[in-house]
Amino acid sequence: MTELPALSGKVALVTGASRGIGYGVAEALVARGDRVCITGRTEDTLKEAVDKLGADRVIGVAGKAHDEAHQAVAVERTMEAFGRVDFLVNNAGTNPVFGPIADLDLNVARKVFETNVISALGFAQRTWHAWQKDNGGAIVNIASVAGLSPSPFIAAYGVSKAALINLTAQLAHEFAPGVRVNAIAPAVVKTKFAAALYEGREEEAAAGYPLGRLGVPSDIGGAAAFLTSEQSAWVTGQTLVVDGGIFLNAGVA
Ligand SMILES: NC(=O)c1ccc[n+]([C@@H]2O[C@H](COP(=O)([O-])OP(=O)(O)OC[C@H]3O[C@@H](n4cnc5c(N)ncnc54)[C@H](OP(=O)(O)O)[C@@H]3O)[C@@H](O)[C@H]2O)c1
Repeated sequence: MTELPALSGKVALVTGASRGIGYGVAEALVARGDRVCITGRTEDTLKEAVDKLGADRVIGVAGKAHDEAHQAVAVERTMEAFGRVDFLVNNAGTNPVFGPIADLDLNVARKVFETNVISALGFAQRTWHAWQKDNGGAIVNIASVAGLSPSPFIAAYGVSKAALINLTAQLAHEFAPGVRVNAIAPAVVKTKFAAALYEGREEEAAAGYPLGRLGVPSDIGGAAAFLTSEQSAWVTGQTLVVDGGIFLNAGVA
């Protein structure tokens, strides 16, 4: 077994972290000595993730990110287990539809907003009141490059991520100076969520990226670790694009 680092004394809550990007974020924070509470809807896979990350430093609270009762329990359990909640990483997100916005079912649009935007606000309110208001900390919202420009066929998702980026700025303004709030906008990262975009044709999908490959969860873990560290002490309200350089192509004829 690899030896765990000394405890940093800091504690994070990462939503949607039994696999994929959230797991990569939790892994990066545990690797520097933080204790972490992870969430996810499925009890079994959440428990497996806790065991893999190290059950002496990580707890799991199962539930749906948009469920206010779950938000309350997740923050309460984090406080009970670790006595503080310095960092919140709002990572849980959904993208259930593909098609033209003209035919978008408005109930689906509402659901996308509930999970991708309102839940991030709910968790931020709760970590603020439970700890951060009096003690400081940082919040990171996992947005998407889809929130930065039109994203055909996934419009509800794109609009929700644009809202999350603006929510980031609003929270950064209101929670300063004690709490910094930033977002990360990834391009395609190899996870279950994005599998349809590259499976069976990864080389082709990666070819458009100046850095020559698709993202992996640790790429986002590294960015989240930076945005929750003293290295970014003078950064707030920003959206860090982590995209293998794909946005550079937009300006190239
Ligand atoms: N992968 C990409 O290319 C990419 C690019 C840009 C942005 N993002 C964003 O990154 C975030 C994570 O995506 P991912 O690619 O890592 O997805 P993923 O591999 O599908 O993992 C999602 C994680 O969140 C949990 N989860 C899903 N819906 C949830 C909900 N409503 N409440 C609580 N937990 C939930 C899942 O566990 P359960 O299924 O058990 O709940 C799982 O642990 C999302 O916000 C997504 O929009 C992803």
